[in-house]
Amino acid sequence: MTSDRVTKAVIPAAGLGTRFLPATKAMPKEMLPVVDKPAIQYVVEEAVAAGLNDVLMITGRNKNALENHFDRATELEYLLETKGDIDRLAAVHHSTDLARMHYVRQGDPRGLGHAVLRARMHVGDEPFAVLLGDDLIDTRDPLLERMIGVAGARGGSVVALMEVDPLTAHRYGIATVVRTRDDDVVRITGLVEKPPLGTAPSNLAIIGRYVLDPGVFPVLETVAPGRGGEIQLTDALQELVHVAPGVHGVIFRGRRYDTGDRLDYLKAVVQLAVDRSDLGPDFEPWLEEFIAARAELRSGRVGA
Ligand code: G1P
Repeated sequence: MTSDRVTKAVIPAAGLGTRFLPATKAMPKEMLPVVDKPAIQYVVEEAVAAGLNDVLMITGRNKNALENHFDRATELEYLLETKGDIDRLAAVHHSTDLARMHYVRQGDPRGLGHAVLRARMHVGDEPFAVLLGDDLIDTRDPLLERMIGVAGARGGSVVALMEVDPLTAHRYGIATVVRTRDDDVVRITGLVEKPPLGTAPSNLAIIGRYVLDPGVFPVLETVAPGRGGEIQLTDALQELVHVAPGVHGVIFRGRRYDTGDRLDYLKAVVQLAVDRSDLGPDFEPWLEEFIAARAELRSGRVGA
C-alpha cells in the first residue's frame, strides 16, 4: 500500500573506512567511538528522534560488529545485573531497544546509489530517509523532521544542503537552486557530484541527509556510472530535478560534525565532549590549559 508518511530510514554502512586504517582493519568505521558512543548510534538515534523506528542498514563484509551492537548482549547484561550496575545496563539496553533494525548486504561496492537501491525491497512504494554515517547532526538542531515536513508539503525528494567553503566543494554533491518563499527551502535546478576543484556551480553542498521519493529506485536501476565509476545518488536525483514535483533542498544552518576523515573526526570528538554534562566540566578547563600551555611553548617563553 502506498503511504506518504515517512517511517523508514536507510543507512548505508558498507564503506571500507580506509581513511582510518589501521583502526578499521578488523572493525567497521561506523563503530569508531565519538566520545563513548559508536558514530553509528548517533545516526540511528537521530532517525528515531525524527520518528523513523524502522532502520535498514546496508552493510558489507566485516560489518558484524554493527549487528552485534544493536542486538542483545546477554552475558554482558547478566554481569552488569549481578553487579547492580544499573546505569551501564541501561546504556546496553538502550542500543538494543532503539529501533527495529534490519540489514541487507551490498555485495559489490558500486557506490552510494547502488547501496540505496539495495533498500528497494524493504522500502517498497513509500518515501524514505537516507542518513549517511559520516555526518552527525546535533540533536538540538533537528534537520530530518524539517526535511520530512517539506517532502510532505511539496512532494518529491528533499536533500539537506549546507553552505561550505568553496575550496572544499569538490568533496560534495553540489546544487544549483532557486529560492522559495520559505527562507530555508530551495528548489533544486541542478546537481553535480564532486565537481573538480574550482568548477563548482555554487557553494551549496549536499550533506548526508535525504528524504527520497520511491520514484528514485527505477532511476537508480538505469543511471549510468558517474564519478569514480560508481552509481551516484546525486546523478539519479539530477534526473528527477525536472520531473514534477522535482527535488527541493533544506538549507541547514545548525551544528554538523563530520567524522569522515581523521581531522574532522578529532574535531567532532572534542566538540561533543565539551558539551557533555558528565565530561565537559572537567574536559573543557583541561583543554583550555592545554591550549594555553601549547601557545606558551610556541612563543618560546617556557624553558628559556
Ligand atoms: C556522499 C555523496 C555526496 C555528498 C556527501 C555528503 O559522498 O555522494 O553527494 O555531498 O556524501 O557527505 P561521500 O562523502 O560518501 O563520498
